[in-house]
Amino acid sequence: MLNFEFKNPTKILFGKGEIARISREVPKDARILMIYGGGSIKNNGVYDQVKEALIDHDVYEFGGVPANPEYEVLINALSLIKEKNINYLMAVGGGSVIDGTKFLSAAANYDGEPWEILRNSVRTFEGEGMPFGTILTLPATGSEMNSGYVISRRETNEKLSSGGPGLFPQFSVLDPEVIRTIPKNQIVNGITDAYTHVLEQYMTAPSSADLQERIAESILISLQETAPKVLADDFNYDAAGNFMWCCTMALNGLIQKGVITDWAVHAMGHELTAYFGIDHARTLAVIAPSHYRYNFETKKGKLAQYAERVWGIKDGTLEEKAEAGIKKMEEFFHSLDIKTKLSEYTEDYKGTAERVEKAFTDRKWSGLGEYKKLTPQDAYKIVEMSY
Ligand code: NZQ
Ligand code: ZN
Repeated sequence: MLNFEFKNPTKILFGKGEIARISREVPKDARILMIYGGGSIKNNGVYDQVKEALIDHDVYEFGGVPANPEYEVLINALSLIKEKNINYLMAVGGGSVIDGTKFLSAAANYDGEPWEILRNSVRTFEGEGMPFGTILTLPATGSEMNSGYVISRRETNEKLSSGGPGLFPQFSVLDPEVIRTIPKNQIVNGITDAYTHVLEQYMTAPSSADLQERIAESILISLQETAPKVLADDFNYDAAGNFMWCCTMALNGLIQKGVITDWAVHAMGHELTAYFGIDHARTLAVIAPSHYRYNFETKKGKLAQYAERVWGIKDGTLEEKAEAGIKKMEEFFHSLDIKTKLSEYTEDYKGTAERVEKAFTDRKWSGLGEYKKLTPQDAYKIVEMSY
């Protein structure tokens, strides 16, 4: 097991009715900016619950953060933060709203041009961000209990990630009741995103970190078992709760401790969202199978372990089990009605491999993946295999 440090300071308030308790988590004299998306919270009662809970606080609002949160929109929120002397942020939404809030948390305490924080890729912000809490309305990203975020810049077709130890939420409310109003296409996105988060931290080489491996496998199995229940027409509170907690646990740092991690699927997937606007989770389902087939030799031990422990495949050689594991993964995505080929999302797919290779070369991303050896030329081949 590799050496590691682990600190996750986010307090979780889990369960029905917990939104009503948030006033205890926020300083009495805080000047709060409540940040939300395109309006789902006004239709499902979450907006009213938050306003009611914060009735004795000084609350300003910024709505309209789009999916794949945009720099051009967030910069207006930054002006409002300065104009109103805001000192506490409250994200109410899915990964996009929470990520946008993290960017604002960092940018509010950063003296330079805000986009610089995103420029040099992950973990460039070393200071303390403006404190914030989150009310999660869409389980998927794990952003509610981690310190990373992803921001898009429309004018340059960029989608870049950043983060830092001072950007964890102070608290996050996980009320499974919010899942009642999520459209099915967003629920399957959430399942697929969380599933791939586990894979990015697991599908490398077999390790000696037994507990992390078993927790990762448990999250995968729980997501597989919960999927049909959470997609059924009748709302099932316990299934919703399991789904929500799986998504949080998939990316709160725990399963990546002591092991090597990949994240190349996300790096390539983000490009597909930046070029074509494809939902984040769906880009991962496009790239992952090709990525695992392209890197079969270095990943086959873990792929076979996945096939055995997660899908119960006991027969065949190591290679046969490994390939069976990839097929099972694809079948799982298809069972959610998630397509796994780029050409099924856009007719303009030709030339995408060249674009990705050039973008990675320009950014000097010369060594992605768990061994930091995946080159822009490798990315070209993986994206081409995903057509
Ligand atoms: O904007 P509103 O009106 O709120 O509607 C949203 C949005 O249209 C809707 N929605 C959310 N909760 C709902 C609801 N509709 C009905 N009922 C509810 N309870 O769902 C739509 C999608 O929301 P969004 O926040 O965009 O989805 P998601 O949570 O999947 O976030 C995706 C973003 O997170 C980034 C992705 O790249 C993408 O930009 N990621 C962040 C990560 C992190 N911080 O750790 C890791 C991930 O890998 C990912 O990259
Ligand atoms: Zn993701």
